[in-house]
Amino acid sequence: MEHLISLKLWSPEKIREVLDLAKDVKANPEKYYNAMAHKNLLMIFEKPSLRTRLSFESGMTQMGGHAIYYDMSTSPMGSGKETISDSMRTASRFVDVVMARLFKHEDLLEMAEYSTVPVINALTDDSHPCQILADLQAIEEKKGKVAGLKLAYLGDGFNNVTHSLMYGGTKMGMHVSVGSPAGEEFSPRADVVADCEEFAKESGGSVFVTDDPVEAVRDADVVYTDSWMSYHIPKDQEEARIAKFMPYQVNSALMAHAKPDAIFMNCLPAIRGCEQTAEVIDGPQSIVFDEAENRLHAQKAVVLTLCGAA
Ligand code: CP
Ligand code: NVA
Repeated sequence: MEHLISLKLWSPEKIREVLDLAKDVKANPEKYYNAMAHKNLLMIFEKPSLRTRLSFESGMTQMGGHAIYYDMSTSPMGSGKETISDSMRTASRFVDVVMARLFKHEDLLEMAEYSTVPVINALTDDSHPCQILADLQAIEEKKGKVAGLKLAYLGDGFNNVTHSLMYGGTKMGMHVSVGSPAGEEFSPRADVVADCEEFAKESGGSVFVTDDPVEAVRDADVVYTDSWMSYHIPKDQEEARIAKFMPYQVNSALMAHAKPDAIFMNCLPAIRGCEQTAEVIDGPQSIVFDEAENRLHAQKAVVLTLCGAA
């Protein structure tokens, strides 16, 4: 049995297989109308969501199955009345696949350990692999390939989306550069950088971390940013974070250092005037809503693959 815990643990071949399936799912959704008939997806949420919840739930319905939305705060797990292990051993008796959006990655690992059905990471403090599969699909649609392209990520480097982009990008032969403020609190985790250097050696890609936003973005094919206020960030840190990240804001002046045909991406939600300006996210280079749409197709491919239903 396979899970989707992190792209770090998936081979480039596995990622390619899922991307190819996602392309077919998007082009021919009717082929998969009954692929998940009578199957149930349990969706455990400890944090808010628009895209993840709607895309997983719609995807299951479109494939003939059903999705159960389960709010962690109303569960025995959330109130500490039942352990993760007992909850998962029980839930696995009822459902065919589980996705979870959690604060702590260790909790996801524990879920996977005790689940007898596949578990999908729908965002933890460590990573957000479903997002990056959708992103790679979107890049391939717009650019015809992913290998050899330069993807520049700007802003909060110590971030789940950043880490997954680095894993997914370097596994697939991309040149991933991260422009973020210096210091452990804001830069990508050292172990992620070290792993990605190894993945890049295999794939012909590269990984580069700098605190210079212009250097990060120079000649990029893809410019990517994520929220400066991730769901777990307390309100009282917002002002200090805005000051810290403002030099990394993706605005027209910064975009001018990327290739003229560069695309702009953001996993969303986004705040205009923070991680990017309105002219960039609402401008002609932005593909953020195509990117968001692919959550549906890519996750259908993940579910089909893990459930052996492709
Ligand atoms: N990008 C993303 O995961 O969005 P949600 O938080 O709305 O699910
Ligand atoms: N880094 C963000 C991603 C939201 C989809 C967060 O963790 O909230």
